[in-house]
Amino acid sequence: MTERETWATRAGFIVAAVGSAVGLGNIWQFPFKTAQFGGASFLIVYIVAALGIGLPAILAEFVIGRKANLNTISAFEKLGYKEWRVVGAIGLFTGFWILSYYSVVGGWVLRYIGGSLTGAYFAAPAEYFGQVSAGMEALALHAVFMALVVGIVAAGIEDGIEKATKLMVPSIVVILAALAVFAFTLPGASAGYAYFLSPDFNALSENFAEIVPFAVGQAFFSLSLGMGAMITYASYIDGDQSLFGDGITIVFLNSFVGILAGLVVLPLLFAQGIDPNTSGAGAVFISVAGAFGDIPGGQIIGFVFFAVVLIAALSSAISLLEVVVSWAIDNYDVSRPQMAIGLGGTIFLLGVPSAIDSAWLGWFDTLAYQLLLPLSVLGILVFAAWVYGAPAIDELMKGSGLGEGVGLTWLWLARTLVIVAVVATLALGLQTLFLGESPAIVPPL
Ligand code: PFF
Repeated sequence: MTERETWATRAGFIVAAVGSAVGLGNIWQFPFKTAQFGGASFLIVYIVAALGIGLPAILAEFVIGRKANLNTISAFEKLGYKEWRVVGAIGLFTGFWILSYYSVVGGWVLRYIGGSLTGAYFAAPAEYFGQVSAGMEALALHAVFMALVVGIVAAGIEDGIEKATKLMVPSIVVILAALAVFAFTLPGASAGYAYFLSPDFNALSENFAEIVPFAVGQAFFSLSLGMGAMITYASYIDGDQSLFGDGITIVFLNSFVGILAGLVVLPLLFAQGIDPNTSGAGAVFISVAGAFGDIPGGQIIGFVFFAVVLIAALSSAISLLEVVVSWAIDNYDVSRPQMAIGLGGTIFLLGVPSAIDSAWLGWFDTLAYQLLLPLSVLGILVFAAWVYGAPAIDELMKGSGLGEGVGLTWLWLARTLVIVAVVATLALGLQTLFLGESPAIVPPL
């Protein structure tokens, strides 16, 4: 078997992980929910959830991946716990499942890049979305998006994913920042800042029971946890860099991009007098797209905006294809490009129903975030904190220069608070799935 690949640099790993984390979740979910749930006061809850719950969970994945230097399934066996491979398998399946419909949405974004230049959606954004979001055209663009993902993954860790994300992630930040400055210049934009960020403790306290699980679920989804992605990416780390430092950087940058996206979309909507009270797919593809029709230079601004959404979606999608490709090439004597094409093709087929009919897409998404994601995160946490335990602390502390106390704090947070939060998230998810009553944890795409 050929030698296993590694990242060329520490920054390469961090940037790839940020690329995985920063995705559609940051651009079309985070800004709208922040505004709806109390602006700056929600941000405080979110940051506490991301640092107190998301960070310990991402560190658990890093520890498993780096210690084992193997894919998300074989890693458990290598650490001496063969039966726990089932946890890795759930994560791998979750990634496979999510990518199938995420790629369909990636196809819509491709469509909107073209549609911006021609102004095709300007006159009737809702009708346009209805036409392009399902059917043969959506299917064809789902294929194009998957082909792009396959192309990057086939080129390898250092030459494909690392090189691509080193270009993509800084572009996302720079372009969003430029768009935020542009949005600032629009007359009427200031109402958007007030809506996005002004603290509203009433909205927060009235909906607290809905907000906390949302903040936790959003932190997990947004940090790409429970999909095998972070275990897989950490398995390519070669050396003793501080996982703790990397984790904090990734959590920080991920939240930062969510806030930056809010500084683009909300001022833009308010400047055009558009009601921001629609979240999910409708928000970006109908309301935000609608705003481009009315601003000077809207064709170019729309093009740039959807280009940045495409980059964010692509840099996330490659992390999920890598989960399965990594498993396949660790275990079978096949080449990376062959596997990328074969598995990418299989994921494309799984996404066909979602491309043809958006009701399927909604169903795939619901099952993923209500059941598969929390289940997978729970398995990983129980394994890392309760089963693996002390060696996990050693791995976490390696190269960190931090005292033992930090490792113990991580262990006990992961053993208690974080697991309780995940169990609650899972219980709510199951309730929603079977009774359809409780609030959605991460509202459907
Ligand atoms: N962190 C990603 C996001 O916020 O969009 C989650 C994700 C979804 C990663 C789908 C990868 C993916 F294919």
